[in-house]
Amino acid sequence: MENIKYENGTLYLLDQTLLPNEEKYITPKTKEDYFYAIKTLQVRGAPAIGIFAAYAMALLDGDKKELKKYLDSARPTAVNLSWATARMLKAYEDGKSLIDEAIAIHNEDKEMCKKISEYGLSLLSDGDGILTHCNAGALATSSYGTGLGPLLLGKEKGYSFKVFTDETRPLLQGARLTSYELEKVGIDVTLICDNMASLVMKQGKINAVLVGADRIAANGDTANKIGTSSTAILAKYYNIPFYVLAPYSTIDFNCESGSDIVIEERDGEEIKSMFFEKPTALSQTKCYNPAFDVTNNELITAIITEKGIIKQPFREEMRKLYD
Ligand code: MRU
Repeated sequence: MENIKYENGTLYLLDQTLLPNEEKYITPKTKEDYFYAIKTLQVRGAPAIGIFAAYAMALLDGDKKELKKYLDSARPTAVNLSWATARMLKAYEDGKSLIDEAIAIHNEDKEMCKKISEYGLSLLSDGDGILTHCNAGALATSSYGTGLGPLLLGKEKGYSFKVFTDETRPLLQGARLTSYELEKVGIDVTLICDNMASLVMKQGKINAVLVGADRIAANGDTANKIGTSSTAILAKYYNIPFYVLAPYSTIDFNCESGSDIVIEERDGEEIKSMFFEKPTALSQTKCYNPAFDVTNNELITAIITEKGIIKQPFREEMRKLYD
């Protein structure tokens, strides 16, 4: 499944807001179209946002510095967005072909995801029960994904996993995207509500938790989709390994700890009215809708990047792989 395709000078984006009911590609043209696609989650998942923004930088005319600033402001938490636009700006300043650079970012992500998936798979056994949160699959990246990568690669190699996916309130990436993605390739997937994770762990159905990340601080604290830290706390309680899978570029050495990571706050209407026929609360009811939360590093068994499997002490071990 290709969520972002560049063909004959046109960029095609699979509109994730319509999934799983409709598979429709859109073709953004203006800078506002690109901004809207990122903001409203037509494209989502940290690496996919970065790839998409790289194409935007290549295909849109105008002041590239301004464009970078504009695109970066669409979503603040995932490091990949500003990382990709910074790389594109540098390519522009160096006089390189921007479309070649965007294609390179896209292709490199494919290689990274494959390596992350291989490392992740080495930690799993055939028949394992897996819990995942949000969507960190091919839809969130270029292919395979990060958190779902070992499962998709494992399927190709003949493993059979039993996957539980949290529905992931309020935007339901687990229900709408992860269950769709896994069903499509024939992986055994069971959808649960977010508040059922403790029970399935207690029942012994989960051997490992696999999630993606949007930004990793220098001390190993990770920003992930809201609700991930509750899953990590439960995993610790039940003594289940909790793995964070992400490209090495997700590590932001400028963030000392998780408290330095900017958490995106979204419109509270997403909690009350999205995906419901009628609002589920009074219109005057206040909502607090942070899109991410921080998982403290002591809850994480390993951070898996394309450079290898990193264990505590994260700060030192992550630095060692820097080049
Ligand atoms: O708000 P989203 O849907 O973009 O959030 C996505 C996630 O939290 C993913 O798990 C994360 O970006 C890692 S994607 C491989």
